[in-house]
Amino acid sequence: MSEIKIFHIVGARPQFIKYTAIYRAITNDNVPNEMKHILIHTGQHYDFLMSDIFFQEFKIPLPDYNLGVGSDEHGKQTAKMIEGIEELILKYNPSLVVVYGDTNTTLAGALAAVKQHVPIAHVEAGLRSFNKKMPEEINRVLTDHCSTLLFCPSKTAVNNLKREGFERVIQNGELISEGESVIDLDADASFPIVVNVGDVMYDVLLWSLEVASSSDVIKRLGLKEKQYNVLTIHRAENTDNPEKFRELLNFVSNTTNGRITIFSVHPRTKKLLDLMDDEIQQCIKPIEPLSYFDMLWLVKNSNLIFTDSGGLQKEAYWLKVPCVTLREQTEWVETIESGWNVLYKNFTGEHTIKNNSADMNVYGDGKASKRIVKIISEFVLQKR
Ligand code: UD1
Repeated sequence: MSEIKIFHIVGARPQFIKYTAIYRAITNDNVPNEMKHILIHTGQHYDFLMSDIFFQEFKIPLPDYNLGVGSDEHGKQTAKMIEGIEELILKYNPSLVVVYGDTNTTLAGALAAVKQHVPIAHVEAGLRSFNKKMPEEINRVLTDHCSTLLFCPSKTAVNNLKREGFERVIQNGELISEGESVIDLDADASFPIVVNVGDVMYDVLLWSLEVASSSDVIKRLGLKEKQYNVLTIHRAENTDNPEKFRELLNFVSNTTNGRITIFSVHPRTKKLLDLMDDEIQQCIKPIEPLSYFDMLWLVKNSNLIFTDSGGLQKEAYWLKVPCVTLREQTEWVETIESGWNVLYKNFTGEHTIKNNSADMNVYGDGKASKRIVKIISEFVLQKR
């Protein structure tokens, strides 16, 4: 019997982490061995601390292909990725292409696949900020509308897709049970399926806490538990405009209550560090990007998080650390509703981040990747 090939397309930091969840489920669960999973790295992120370090610390095999696309204008970067992915699709004829999150890599994988009539599974489908100026929003909307299997991390994500006309919604958007089959063998396989499986980032966080607890990051940085804050800024909306970046730094430095704020600097943001004057440098300390385990441990033991990253907003929520989001809106509305997260424009003091109402199950139960791998396997076997 011929081998079934499944492509996984990754390229940016959060995608290596999401893929880790799927990889573990593929290797731990009983996945039929006639399936060959092929990992393709577009090369969107290429610095050691943005890419290789995650393969090392999660002990996942290196990608089968690295397209080495690197940085460029959005159009060129995406086009180069599409070209490289299409070549591999033509070479291997995969039964399914799995894409992750909302980056240019996600969109490139989806466009290359849909043009060659290869079905797409989107991990982290249905998120919306309703701000089309964000490149990530365009990437999400287009990817969802090219996809056949839409794996949502929450009910809100399912509802967003319903509003956009998706009809085949499993269990009305409730988290499906772990062993549930959602593939209807009699239905048209190309009719998109929307299913709430929970968030794969929660899977990774739960597995990682024990390993992360041996991290020496707090000592290395000379910190004391709960006596420091953590900051990240990398979104284009905050880094393309120096005035905006300065406004955010001023906000953070006026909010730190004398605590040092550790600033993990994304490469995109490096060019702006000159804007940090002496006064700001007194309370904000820039450092190189951290590994996942180090970052998790740093966040877990911090007093307060300032971030424009989606992943970090959720990690703060799961770890019960108050978070201030440095954006005008967020896709992760449940973190705001829970009281653990607040948009910076609405921030009125640390004490106002009320933190007693969190329903820790709004993003699933830490078994999203098992559900995804089961559905993917059933889907490709059905198609054969
Ligand atoms: C991308 C994603 C964003 C995700 C983020 C996670 C898009 C549109 N955005 O943003 O959704 O949250 O990754 O980190 O895809 N650079 C380096 N070294 C690297 C990678 C990037 O120096 O390893 C620099 C380059 O100068 C580049 C800039 O960072 O121009 C931006 O990189 P890019 O991949 O375009 O987008 P991110 O800001 O990383």
